Amino acid sequence: MLTRFLAFCALAAAETCVNGTECEEVDFLSYAAKEDFPRRKRRFRRHHGYGYRPCKSAERPSLAEGPVPCTYSKTYAYPATVVQEDSGGVAQMESRCDSAGEDYVNNQCEATCIINSNSQGYDYNKWDAVKACPYPAGATEFPIVSNQEQCMQLYDNFTALGEAVDITWNGEVYRTGIGHGALIGVRGNCLTIRYNGKNAVIFQVDIRSWSLEITQKTYLYLTDNENPGGFCWIPEVEIVNCLDIPGMPSSL
Ligand SMILES: *[C@@H]1O[C@H](CO)[C@@H](O)[C@H](O)[C@H]1NC(C)=O
Repeated sequence: MLTRFLAFCALAAAETCVNGTECEEVDFLSYAAKEDFPRRKRRFRRHHGYGYRPCKSAERPSLAEGPVPCTYSKTYAYPATVVQEDSGGVAQMESRCDSAGEDYVNNQCEATCIINSNSQGYDYNKWDAVKACPYPAGATEFPIVSNQEQCMQLYDNFTALGEAVDITWNGEVYRTGIGHGALIGVRGNCLTIRYNGKNAVIFQVDIRSWSLEITQKTYLYLTDNENPGGFCWIPEVEIVNCLDIPGMPSSL
């Protein structure tokens, strides 16, 4: 009876983790699931090793990690107290990925991101350096430190490369664009997105979100002209140093 009670508590704790409060309780889960909740076990195991990590580990992906299935941090703050994320409507990601039978993650620390359309909301004529770099306290600390001035310069240099144009970089072709971020990206970061055997390189001008929205011509390139609405298309992403992109200045 006591065992059952403890198992119940453990499950309750694990459940809060899924819904977003206590990721540290995860170790109890295997006990609860094994002893008393075989049906739950399947559900939780599906995401095991993919999303159940303390928030800490999501804070510093290394550059050497390479492209990873798209997730974004719900907690990473830069500058100091600014968490540049928006998880509104994340249930839509879950239902789209459930329907598609794709593995995804959504907990207190992070959630999966999928290619999504914002029509022409991230076309270059809707943006400028001031709008893309709103924080006087700083712009990025990873992989390069930059202040607001430097963020605006990076934006100008990046957009000067051209909108939805192809850049050859280390033997691969990347189509340029701007939009949302992933991982621990903040406004002023650059990231690569790989989907369908194609690459994009994006300057982040807005929040991180489950809804990975970028310049229209650029996402249509990745999706072979298909509208991503309703689908669970999880690309691979990597934060890169904007200054490493061919055509960008070599230093700030
Ligand atoms: C980068 O942008 C700045 C203006 O923000 C400009 O002065 C500089 O020439 C640009 N550098 C390159 C390599 O495009």
